[in-house]
This record gives sequence, C-alpha cells and structure tokens, in this order.
Amino acid sequence: YTGDNILFPALEQSMMAVVLINEKDEVLFFNRSAEKLWGYQRQEVLGKDVSGLVPSYLKGIHSGFISHNREGGEARVEGMSRELLLERKDGSTVWTRFSLSKVNVGGRLHYLALVRDAS
Ligand code: HEM
Repeated sequence: YTGDNILFPALEQSMMAVVLINEKDEVLFFNRSAEKLWGYQRQEVLGKDVSGLVPSYLKGIHSGFISHNREGGEARVEGMSRELLLERKDGSTVWTRFSLSKVNVGGRLHYLALVRDAS
C-alpha cells in the first residue's frame, strides 16, 4: 500500500476515464480523461445524477438498470467489460469500452466505471 496521497492522483491522472457514483447515483468523481472523453468539465457533472452522462435514448431507462442492480438484480454490465456507445456533450458519439465495478463502502453501494475510447 503506497499511502493515502497517491491513490487520488493515480485515479485523477489515469488514462482511463474514471466515473464514481454514490448510493444516490450522484457523480462523486470525474477525472481528467473523463472530461476529455465526454466533453464535460467536472463542475458540470459532480453532484448531479449520472443520467447526465448517459446517451439520450437511454436516459429514461438507465436509472432503472442501476436500481435493479442495487436491489440485487442479476448482474448485466457489472463486473463486465463491454462496448457501449457514448454520447458527448456536443452530441457526437464514440464507441467506448466500459468496465463497471460495484464498490461497497460500509453497506453503501457505489459504482465505479472505467472507460476508454474503443473506436
Ligand atoms: C446498466 C449503458 C454510464 C452504471 C447499463 C445498461 C446499459 C448501460 C445499456 C444495461 C445493461 C445491459 O444492457 O447490459 C450506459 C451508457 C453509459 C453508461 C451508454 C454512458 C455512455 C454509466 C455510468 C455508470 C453506470 C457512468 C456508473 C458509474 C450502470 C449500472 C448498471 C448499468 C450500475 C446496472 C448494471 C447491472 O445490472 O449489471 N448501462 N451506461 N452506467 N449502468 Fe450504465
């Protein structure tokens, strides 16, 4: 273990886009690579619902996917690596590869997405 002050810059400076959401689906962390990939500045997304990062055609149903998983529903994306179409702030789209992990913090379920350009 390398100490508390290394993990934060390691995630911040990761080549993977890193998005962490809390138990209320609010964005807690959005690193530099995520800003580049989505075209949003972190101050536009931090504290807001993760649906702001989801393509328009999924916005209405994505929160249901998350709550289904929170309630112990079958794992779909979770723990998996798969390709998803990402929609940027300017409306352009790019194929990306997602790895989604469930992060249990004292019973509070967070989710961590690691994403990279797969185009
Ligand atoms: C589920 C798409 C961003 C968390 C899903 C599903 C889709 C999807 C299609 C349904 C599962 C399936 O079809 O296999 C997307 C797209 C995103 C995005 C296109 C952005 C470009 C995120 C982010 C998070 C997240 C940033 C959290 C950090 C989840 C969770 C589920 C889910 C927790 C339920 C997974 C499960 O049941 O195994 N997403 N998602 N998504 N997504 Fe996203």
